[in-house]
Amino acid sequence: MRSQPDYGIDAPHVIRNLLLSGLGAIILCLFLPSFRVGKVQVFLFPNFIWMAGWLILTAVLMILYSKFGKFRHRDRILNLVQWTGKEQVLDIGTGRGLLLAGAAKKLTTGRAVGIDIWNQEDLSGNNMQNLVRNLDLEGVREKADIKNEDAQKMSFPDDCFDVVLSNLCLHNIYNVPGRAQACREIARVLKPGGLAVISDFRHTREYRHAFSKLGLEIRSLPISLDTFPPLRIITARKQP
Ligand SMILES: C[S@@+](CC[C@H](N)C(=O)[O-])C[C@H]1O[C@@H](n2cnc3c(N)ncnc32)[C@H](O)[C@@H]1O
Repeated sequence: MRSQPDYGIDAPHVIRNLLLSGLGAIILCLFLPSFRVGKVQVFLFPNFIWMAGWLILTAVLMILYSKFGKFRHRDRILNLVQWTGKEQVLDIGTGRGLLLAGAAKKLTTGRAVGIDIWNQEDLSGNNMQNLVRNLDLEGVREKADIKNEDAQKMSFPDDCFDVVLSNLCLHNIYNVPGRAQACREIARVLKPGGLAVISDFRHTREYRHAFSKLGLEIRSLPISLDTFPPLRIITARKQP
């Protein structure tokens, strides 16, 4: 049993593929540094070594985000909420509970709910058991509920959350109507005056558009360059 919470490595298969491609490019340079096409001698080394370096650097930056950057980013997201401790909070795509545990720590009488469908490709060790273990280790198990639910079709009634949080989840819905539907669901479950804080590395313009069409007041923060990939946070407040 681990005694420290473990929030996993994001997109582990992507990282593995980047590392393997980078190593492949290095091996190609070592064993096939150049070859002849007709009268022209083609040198692989300069181009492939740059490519290998870039692929491996990308993988390393992604690991660094998972190991260190995500905690700073979690705090950045949580600091956008003016906590009273009484909030009802929803974390969409909670995974191993990074935002759920962080939000639950801010609560006194409030409750936090985490939903997910626990896609294995999106996060290493992504399952409910690891989430519960993290909540236990963070000492917030009794303030949190967990549900297996899709962001596009939530079972919660209208107007029931003061705060909706989501980090690196919505881009995993691979079509525009699906992401728009998730934004509609977020707007629906927010209480009047409630705040959604959504962070992602792409499609944030789409989320802004969907929320403003629904009449929410949008704020877009500058891209965070201390995360990899660089993440953008948007906030959407439902009219009181
Ligand atoms: C990269 S992980 C991020 C986990 C967590 N938010 C964090 O920042 O550590 C993305 C999470 O979104 C979840 N997810 C993907 N599509 C989802 C959907 N349609 N509904 C709910 N969760 C989803 C995945 O299972 C995964 O746990």
